Amino acid sequence: MPIKRVGVLGCGLMGSGIAQVCAMAGYETVAREVADEPLQKGMKSIQKQLGKLVEKEKLSAGDRDAALGRLTGTTRLEDLAGCDIVIEAIVEELEAKNALWRTLDALCGPETIFASNTSSLTIADMAAATKRPGRMVGLHFFNPVPVMKLVEVVRTIATDPQAFDTAFQFARSLGKEPIVCKDSSGFVVNLLLVPYMMDAIRALEQGVATTADIDKGMQLGTGHPMGPFILADFVGLDTLDRIGGIMLGEYNEKRYASPPLLKRMISLGMYGRKSGRGFYDYSGPEPVPVDLGI
Ligand code: CAA
Ligand code: NAD
Repeated sequence: MPIKRVGVLGCGLMGSGIAQVCAMAGYETVAREVADEPLQKGMKSIQKQLGKLVEKEKLSAGDRDAALGRLTGTTRLEDLAGCDIVIEAIVEELEAKNALWRTLDALCGPETIFASNTSSLTIADMAAATKRPGRMVGLHFFNPVPVMKLVEVVRTIATDPQAFDTAFQFARSLGKEPIVCKDSSGFVVNLLLVPYMMDAIRALEQGVATTADIDKGMQLGTGHPMGPFILADFVGLDTLDRIGGIMLGEYNEKRYASPPLLKRMISLGMYGRKSGRGFYDYSGPEPVPVDLGI
């Protein structure tokens, strides 16, 4: 079944990027948010990103307008009824995701592929909430979606090979490099990356070095484009905490546990770059390390 129309659930950090790349690749794209305010925020961010590409002469003004013409924002789930694939990028909570899948299961045709961008939940736990476990896959994009080449394409023991192939080719059609992953919590990248970020926070708690020096150490010592704290702020500290909690529940290994410092920062609304403050303060032209009293 050729994919023509794509639905995206959630238009936050990831959903807006996913909707952008789908519209740019030529798909009719419908992005759905819970309310007007987050929807407008997400749509504005896409317009801004496309505008930057035009300024840098990486996209023509005509192609930008065509991409925006293929993109619709909505708060109504019914508007996703005619989609060939629906990609979910809402909060990392199984019940929130499954509530949407249950409703969409009744709204969408039986051929529609359901794909989750989850970081740490298993796809089978979502497939089980639907009457179409064969058409449920994982399509795990990386942040920032328009730039990062990788997509982890995930099959469960119940995924139809044909639905998997369609999802894999779809990821390729977005200009991404797909890899095949088994349905285990964290897939490949987060299995390794999440304990790394948690360990960096533990190193900071232990006073091994300052935030800036731990970041500099990993950037200059290992060639990472970002140090672990800039990266954690970029992912979102609330999202990192949720991912870690789910992986801890799955594997029962302490390395996935959120250190106390991360929990306190979240209690204080320090979610990282998206809230303006996390391990760094983003109110000025350059990020400045926050004094965390360590
Ligand atoms: N959205 C869109 N484009 C962006 C962007 C964003 N948020 N941030 C940067 N870019 C673009 C820039 O416009 C620039 O484009 P051009 O080359 O066309 O000019 C390009 O990316 C490079 O940006 P910069 O020169 O400003 O900065 P940089 O060289 O440091 O690159 C970066 C920025 C690509 C984000 C780079 O720092 C990087 O790769 N960081 C690591 C990101 C990473 O590890 N992501 C994975 C997070 S984990 C995850 O996603 C999984 C999960 O489930 C949690
Ligand atoms: P985010 O907080 O930036 O955005 C989530 C959006 O979902 C919000 O705008 C919220 O309004 C919306 N939302 C909540 N409930 C909804 C519902 N019922 N219907 C539609 N929208 C709803 O989060 P994010 O960083 O974009 O993460 C989204 C998903 O992508 C999570 O599963 C996360 O684990 C995963 N992910 C995140 C990253 C990352 O670096 N942040 C990378 C890869 C995957």
